[in-house]
Amino acid sequence: VSETLVIQSHRGPYTVHWDDSLLARPQRLLEGSPHFLIDANVARLYASQHKMLLAHKNTIVIDATEANKSIDRTIPVFERLVANRIRRDHTIVAIGGGIIQDVGCFVASTLLRGVPWRFVPTTLLAQADSCIGSKSSINLGATKNIIGTFNPPRDVIIDAAFLDTLEPKEIRSGIGEILKAHAIDGVDAFDQLARDFGRLIEDRAVLQRYIRSALRIKQRYIEMDEFDRGARNIFNYGHSFGHAIESATHYGIPHGIAVSIGMDMANYVSAERSMVPRAHYERMHVPLRHNYGEFARTPIPIDEMFAALMKDKKNTSTELGLILPVGDDAAIQRVQVPPDEQFRRQCVAFVQQLAR
Ligand SMILES: NC(=O)c1ccc[n+]([C@@H]2O[C@H](COP(=O)([O-])OP(=O)(O)OC[C@H]3O[C@@H](n4cnc5c(N)ncnc54)[C@H](O)[C@@H]3O)[C@@H](O)[C@H]2O)c1
Repeated sequence: VSETLVIQSHRGPYTVHWDDSLLARPQRLLEGSPHFLIDANVARLYASQHKMLLAHKNTIVIDATEANKSIDRTIPVFERLVANRIRRDHTIVAIGGGIIQDVGCFVASTLLRGVPWRFVPTTLLAQADSCIGSKSSINLGATKNIIGTFNPPRDVIIDAAFLDTLEPKEIRSGIGEILKAHAIDGVDAFDQLARDFGRLIEDRAVLQRYIRSALRIKQRYIEMDEFDRGARNIFNYGHSFGHAIESATHYGIPHGIAVSIGMDMANYVSAERSMVPRAHYERMHVPLRHNYGEFARTPIPIDEMFAALMKDKKNTSTELGLILPVGDDAAIQRVQVPPDEQFRRQCVAFVQQLAR
């Protein structure tokens, strides 16, 4: 498929290219004095196709773990790039999922006060969501994504063939973010996706169609509000709860699956507070539950979940800044909620019914 999407950013436009032959012929990535940051699993799985990249003198292979996107663990990456004599007219090429993207984008925005970077997303989550939007997010100790920058890539190149080797849970993680984008787009978009849910997993062409539509939905918001000061906030739907669940379960649940649980929890809390009809929670619950499946049984320690929720970037000093559905049309909005006993009871009730 040859198609492109042009995204406007504060640094000018950048392009998302679809290139079905990239995996087989990665030579185009060698242009522009590259420094490769490659996901260790991708390096292993595609060792024969990527022989040339892996043998390159400026290649750094990184394990895609949340610990490796902490501020401490980025230091050896900076050190290696400096030892490899990186210059401002070189290019950092990140090949992997959201973790390698976050490390690559962060390092590229701070080293030498900015080195251009390009991204080859290899997970569904990265292809359908994180590859656009300029954000880098780095962890500080147990606090996820608390450090970061806005740094759009030079370009993004998507080859759908990478998805063939993803574990099923990583496909569902990506579907979590696709569900989120369509929920934001409105009830009709979400319901259509819910009807196509089975075909998403079985039919690559259907999945490709939804990857593009998820990116187009996200494009509208990031072009309106690249720096996440207003309209873009709603793209964090499911994320305050999702991040808190990820943190409380020590990242035992893939990101987009935690976001699926997080959206279900947001809908539940909203319905319990009579902010949205209960039917809205019930309607979305079916596909969301389908997506997070057996992860519902992962024990979620409540106190740890609350502690993580209290650290969310969107909070003010006294209130939680949550993204919740509101009104008969279930419009996704930012809502300030006091972290009081009533809110805690609603969260506990949700977590308890999850385990049943
Ligand atoms: N910066 C952003 O805008 C943004 C947006 C959303 C999420 N994120 C971050 O992204 C991270 C999640 O990203 P992710 O879901 O892409 O996961 P990931 O990068 O952790 O990758 C998931 C797993 O898939 C493996 N993998 C990658 N590509 C593969 C392939 N083609 N075949 C087989 N295995 C492959 C990885 O090695 C890893 O084990 C989280 O840390 C999240 O906070 C960032």
